[in-house]
Amino acid sequence: MPETHYTIVIGSGILPSVWPQIKAAHGGFNRFVVTDEHVVAAGHLNTLLGGRPASHFIIKPAGEVSKTIDTAVAIVEAMEKAYFGRDTVVIALGGGTVGDIAGFAAAIFKRGVPIVHVPTTTLAQADSAIGGKTGVDSSASKNAFGAFWHPAAVYIDIATVATLDDRQYRCGLVESVKHGLIADAGYFEFIESHLDAVLARDLDALETLAEHNCRIKGRVVEEDPFEKNKRRILNYGHTIGHAVEAASGYELLHGEAVAIGIIAAGLIEGELGLSEPGRSDRVRAVLEKLDVPTKLPADMAEEMVIDLLRHDKKAVDRWPRFVLLDRLGQAHCEAGQYAVQVCREIVEKVVRELR
Ligand code: GLY
Repeated sequence: MPETHYTIVIGSGILPSVWPQIKAAHGGFNRFVVTDEHVVAAGHLNTLLGGRPASHFIIKPAGEVSKTIDTAVAIVEAMEKAYFGRDTVVIALGGGTVGDIAGFAAAIFKRGVPIVHVPTTTLAQADSAIGGKTGVDSSASKNAFGAFWHPAAVYIDIATVATLDDRQYRCGLVESVKHGLIADAGYFEFIESHLDAVLARDLDALETLAEHNCRIKGRVVEEDPFEKNKRRILNYGHTIGHAVEAASGYELLHGEAVAIGIIAAGLIEGELGLSEPGRSDRVRAVLEKLDVPTKLPADMAEEMVIDLLRHDKKAVDRWPRFVLLDRLGQAHCEAGQYAVQVCREIVEKVVRELR
């Protein structure tokens, strides 16, 4: 099992320096890059390699549809065909899907080889590249095959998000909003007051975001690397969010579904007397300015969302636990637990209110 402590390097325009840094850290290792067709088209693979020849695997088509066990098998077999062994370091260059698949392939290849993440999206830079969650989907559910496989290092070049399309860019920012809500009111206020700069992809604002995201997520993961309790706070907005994402047939992007889930969590907090004056309005205003959905899609049946909640992988007695807030910047804890029971009637009422 790799170390849960690792280097995270953040900077603007650092991508050309990443290859020599990996080479220096993993002297004598074979380097194998996993990326996708969008990242290649954006020019990031060329920038990473700087003209050097390197074994690589390009995931096609990009996106959740390729997050399958077949893709993981194809990556493992490509490394075998190149005669790579345990002296291999896998480099995930791309967004959340690339990181999840490449991380999983690294975890199972020859019983596990190091993975280095080079995230290029707002979602991966804020969340998925940090913390060691890897996996691929089954035909029935997300991340059905998976492993905790902590990276050897993470290199975040904030300038790479310049090539993201607007929808991807905005929805990845929802995870940053989540970090402020669960752990740092000052960070939420920074996002609130610098949203124009963030949306304009201002590099100073993005660097502040990356530093806060890595610090917040890094601390939580360090305390609870295998999600026994505290790490569950990172799932704020994700319980209903995952159900909504699946109910949309993955038409909604992850961050979009989580935005709806965050609104739902706020409504549950209201039902349980955990709200503070103005908090839900402020959260809604930030999400609306990000232009992510805050309501269920018109054609989505509420019953489907409720049914999917019963299949949540963290469900106990077929009903999931929820992460809630006590106040801005602080997750609710009940009897020492951060994921708490909420009765069905309240959840069903809240899902109906997401219209
Ligand atoms: N994205 C939630 C976690 O890494 O735990």
